[in-house]
Amino acid sequence: MRISKSIYSISFLLLSVFFSGDLFAQASLSLDLSKSTASVSPELYGLMTEEINHAFDGGLYAEQIQNRIFKDNSKSSDHWSVVQDGNGKGAIALDDDNPINKVLTVCLRLNIETPGKRVGVANDGYWGIAVKPQTTYHCSFYAKASGNDDTPLSVSIESNDGQTTYATAQVRGINGQWKNYTATLTTSKDVKTTSEARFVISTTGKGTYLFNLVSLFPPTYNNRPNGNRTDIMQILADMKPSFLRFPGGNYLEGDKFSTRFDWKKTIGPLDQRPGHESPWGYRSTDGTGLLEYLEWCEDLKMQPLLAVFAGYVLKEDYIEAGPFLQPFVNDALDEIEYVTGDVNTKWGAERARDGHPKPFKLNYVEIGNEDEYDGSGSYSGRFTQFYNAIKAKYPDIKIISTVGEDDLHEAPTPDIIDEHYYRSAFEMEEDAAHYDRYSRTGPKIFVGEWATMRGRPTNDFGAALGDAAWMTGMERNSDVVIMASYAPLFVNVNPGAMQWTPDLIGYNAISVYGSPSYYAQKMFNTYIGNEVIPIAAKNIPTQIQKLNKKDSAAGAQPKTIPAMFYVATRNTQTGTVFLNMVNTSGEAQKVKINLTGARKVSSKGMVVTLKADKPEDTNSITDPENIIPVSSETKGWGKSFSESFPAYSITVLQIETK
Ligand code: AHR
Repeated sequence: MRISKSIYSISFLLLSVFFSGDLFAQASLSLDLSKSTASVSPELYGLMTEEINHAFDGGLYAEQIQNRIFKDNSKSSDHWSVVQDGNGKGAIALDDDNPINKVLTVCLRLNIETPGKRVGVANDGYWGIAVKPQTTYHCSFYAKASGNDDTPLSVSIESNDGQTTYATAQVRGINGQWKNYTATLTTSKDVKTTSEARFVISTTGKGTYLFNLVSLFPPTYNNRPNGNRTDIMQILADMKPSFLRFPGGNYLEGDKFSTRFDWKKTIGPLDQRPGHESPWGYRSTDGTGLLEYLEWCEDLKMQPLLAVFAGYVLKEDYIEAGPFLQPFVNDALDEIEYVTGDVNTKWGAERARDGHPKPFKLNYVEIGNEDEYDGSGSYSGRFTQFYNAIKAKYPDIKIISTVGEDDLHEAPTPDIIDEHYYRSAFEMEEDAAHYDRYSRTGPKIFVGEWATMRGRPTNDFGAALGDAAWMTGMERNSDVVIMASYAPLFVNVNPGAMQWTPDLIGYNAISVYGSPSYYAQKMFNTYIGNEVIPIAAKNIPTQIQKLNKKDSAAGAQPKTIPAMFYVATRNTQTGTVFLNMVNTSGEAQKVKINLTGARKVSSKGMVVTLKADKPEDTNSITDPENIIPVSSETKGWGKSFSESFPAYSITVLQIETK
C-alpha cells in the first residue's frame, strides 16, 4: 500500500513536470535589483532623416504642389497639364524669358488660344492632392498676364476628371507685373477623403498667363507656415524621440560639390530657395531647409544633431585639409552660428529675419557622413580641421566622427563615433551582444543608422525581431551607446517614390502607418528606466542559422545562437522595472523570472506584447494596424514567477518593485 502510494506520487510529479514544460531545464532570468551595470542614456532613441524616398517633398513637408518652381525637368513641365473645358483651347510651356529673381528663373506659360468654358493649368500633386473634409488650404502663386481682361482666375481642388469641385476660390487683378497672389480654399464637411484630385488654376477669359512658385498647403503641425503634415508629425511624436540627426546621410554629401546640402540656399523665403538635385534621383525643393529641421526639433522637443558638409562627395571627390577646405569649415561655423547665435551675431540675425529670433541649443555636430568610403584617406585631416575650428569657437559642442579611432590618424579624439549597421535579422541577432565588449574608456558611440534589412517598402516582423534583439544590446550598453537612430525613417509607398527599402514609416498623400519595427522602437522608448539591471540567464533556447544555397554549397556550417534576447532597466524614482524580451523562435517560450534585491515585488503588473504569426507578417498602407502592441494587466507576479512569451514576439514586462 505504502509502496504503491509513493509510485503514484512520483508518477504524478513526473507528469506535472512534463506538462509544465519543466522536464527539460526551464529557461530562467535572474534580475539583481541591488545592482546596476550602467546608466541609461536619456538620449538613447532618436531619429535620423534625409531627403530619400520622398521623405520631405511628397512626405513630411505639407506642400501639395509638385514641381512648383518648374525646375524638376528643364525640358518639360512635369506634373503640370493643360485644362481645356467646353470649347476652350490653350497650350502650356516652360518659359525662361520672364525671371522673377535669380532663383525663380523658369515659369509656366499658359496661352489661351480659344476662351471657352474654361482653360487652365492643373498639377497632379505628389501622387495626388490630399482632399479631406472641412479643411482649409492656403494657396499662393506668382502670376502675370498679357492680353487678358477682368475675368478672375479660379483656383480649385477638384477630381482628376474635373467633374467634382472639392474647394474653390477666385483671384483677381492679374496684370503685366509679377505679383504674389494668395487664396484660401475650404472643403465642406461632406467631402470624402481622397487623393484622386488635382489642383487647377483656370479662367473663362482670354490672354497669356505666366505662373511661378505655385503652392498649396493644408493645415500644418502647430500651424507652422511652410510646415509639416500633422499625421506624420503625430506618429513621430508618439515615439518620443530625443534627437534628430539631419540632413543626412548621403543627402548631406551630394553626388557633386554643386549638389551637396548647401545650407545657405535652404533658408529664407521660398522665392529665395532654388532647390537642388539630391543623390536619390530627384530634385529637392529645399522647402524643408535648415530652419525647418530646427523647428521640427522644437515641435517634437528633440535635440538637433547637425551633420555638417565636410568636403567629401559621393562621386568620390574630396578636398584635402588646408586652405581650399577652409571655406567649407567657415560655412559650418556660419551654420552653427545660424542655429545657436543670438540676434547680435550675423547669422543669428539672419535666423531672426527668417522668423525665429530665439537661438536653438546645439550639443552635437557630426563632421560629414560615412567617410570610410573616402578611399583617399583624407578624412583624418578634414576631421581635424573642422574639429579644431568648431571646438575653438564652441568648446561645449560634442563632435562626432563618422569613422572609428583606428581610422583617424593624428587627429583629435572625437567625443563620439557614428557607426552604421544594415544587416540581416540573423546578423543582428548574432551580434546583439556587440557592445557588451566595447571599451568603456574610449569615445561614446552613436549608432546613427541601423536597420534589419527585411520587408518592402517597410520592414516586416522578422526585421522587427532583429531590430529588437539589436536594441536589447544597445540599451544594455547605453553607457557607451548614448544615441541610436534607425534609417531610413520614411517612405512614400507610391510606385516610383522609393529608392531604399526597408523603411520605418510609410505613407501616401492621405495616411501614414508604422511598420512592426516602428512599434518595437516605440515600445523600447516608452518602457525604459534610467539604469540597467544585470541579468543572469540560464537555459536560454537557441536557434540554428538557416544558410542560403550559396553558403551551403560552399560548405559553411550553420551557427547556433540564442533565440531569445532581453534587457532590463529600472526607473529609480518609481521602482518600476522594465524587462524587454524578444522571442525570435516559432514556439512560445516559458521563462522563470527571479527578482532579487527588492523589498517587495507587486503581484500586479503590465504586459505589452507585439507579435506575429510568422516573420513575413507586416503592416501596410491598406492594413496599417495588422501588428500593433497590445497591453494587458496581469496578476500573480512576485519575487519569482513564470511567464510565457509567444512565438515571434517582442514583450515588455512592467514590474512594480519597492
Ligand atoms: O540610409 C540610407 C543611406 O545609407 C544613407 O544616406 C547613407 O548614410 C547610408 O549609406
